[in-house]
Amino acid sequence: MIVLGIETSCDETAAAIVEDGQIILSSVVSSQVSVHKPFGGVVPELASRKHLEAIVPVVENALADACLQKRHVDGIAATQGPGLVGALLVGFSFAKSMAYGLNVPLVGINHLEAHINSVFLESEHPSFPFISLLVSGGHTAVYYVQSHTTYDMMGQTRDDAAGEAFDKVSKMLGLGYPGGIVIDRLSKEGSAEKIKFPRAYLDKDSYDFSFSGLKTSVNRYIQMNPETYKNHIPDIAAGFQEAVVEVLCFKAIHAAAAKGCQAIAVVGGAAANSRLNMKIRQDAQKKGIDVYIPSLSLCGDNAAMVAAAGFHHLKRGETCPREADVYSRAT
Ligand code: KG4
Ligand code: ZN
Repeated sequence: MIVLGIETSCDETAAAIVEDGQIILSSVVSSQVSVHKPFGGVVPELASRKHLEAIVPVVENALADACLQKRHVDGIAATQGPGLVGALLVGFSFAKSMAYGLNVPLVGINHLEAHINSVFLESEHPSFPFISLLVSGGHTAVYYVQSHTTYDMMGQTRDDAAGEAFDKVSKMLGLGYPGGIVIDRLSKEGSAEKIKFPRAYLDKDSYDFSFSGLKTSVNRYIQMNPETYKNHIPDIAAGFQEAVVEVLCFKAIHAAAAKGCQAIAVVGGAAANSRLNMKIRQDAQKKGIDVYIPSLSLCGDNAAMVAAAGFHHLKRGETCPREADVYSRAT
C-alpha cells in the first residue's frame, strides 16, 4: 500500500511517500526556521501562511522523488492534531481535498502516534511491547506501546516539554532559536559538573516530568551572575542539559523495568540530543534493555512517520469522515 503522509502541525511543511508503513520512497521537509528565527519562536500566523505557500510544491516534490504519480497513491494520512490549529488546517484540508479528488481513503493522524511510529521506519526496531520516550518541542511523555496504534501514556510533563525547555534556556543565554541543537553543541565545550541545577524527579514512582523549576533555576543563576555568566555559557548549557537528560533516562528505564519491557525507543525532535543518546544507551545496557533511536531526519517533524502510522489504520479500513476537524490539544 502506497501512503502519502502530510505533516503541518508546527513549523515544518512535510510530505512523504511510504510503502507498507515501512519503506520510505521519499520524504520532503520544508523548514520554516529562518522565518521564525528573528522572533525567537514560532509565530502561529506566519506558520500557517508559510504552510499555504509550501504545501503544493512539497507534495509534488514528494511524488517526484518517489518517481510516482498521484494515481499511484492508495491512501492519504495527514496530521490532525495536536498542534497549531491554523497550521494543521492547511495540511489537513489539503489532504481532505486531495483524497476526495483522487477517490482514495483519508485518515487523520495524532502527531504523537506518528512520532511513536517513527522508530519503525528503521530496519532495526523494537518488538512489542516497549517503552517509548517522546521528547519534542511541544510534548514530553512516556508510553507503554503495545501495537502501532495501541499505547498507554504512563506520564507526561506537567509544564514545559523537554525541547521547549532547551529553547527557552537557549533564549535566556542569548543563543537564539531553535535552542536544542545549540545547547547540545555548546555543552560539549563545557562541564556538566561545574554548576549543579536541580533535578525534578517529582514522586519517584511517577512518570511525570517538570522542567519549569529547572528553567527558573537557570534564569536565577543568570540574574545572580549578570557580569560573569557570559564567561561560562558552555558550563551552564552542559549543567542544564545534564539535569534534563538524567531525569529523562531515569523515568524511561524505570518505566521499562515496571512493565517488564526489553526495549526503549526515544522519539521526537529532542531525541536528536547527543548526550541523551549516549546516556540512555549506557544506563539501559546496565539493565539489559535495548535502546532504539531513529536517525536524525526521523526525530524531528517529518511526514514519513505520519504515513507509517496511517498505514496501520488504513489497512484496517479506518478512515476519517469528511466533516472531521483538526484539534489543538492531545485529549
Ligand atoms: O518533534 P519536533 O521537531 O517538533 C515538535 O513536535 O515539537 O521537536 C522540536 C524540538 C525543539 O524544541 C528543539 O529545540 C528540540 O526538538 N531539539 C533538540 C535537539 N534538536 C532538536 N533538543 C535537544 N537537543 C537537540 N540536539
Ligand atoms: Zn513533533
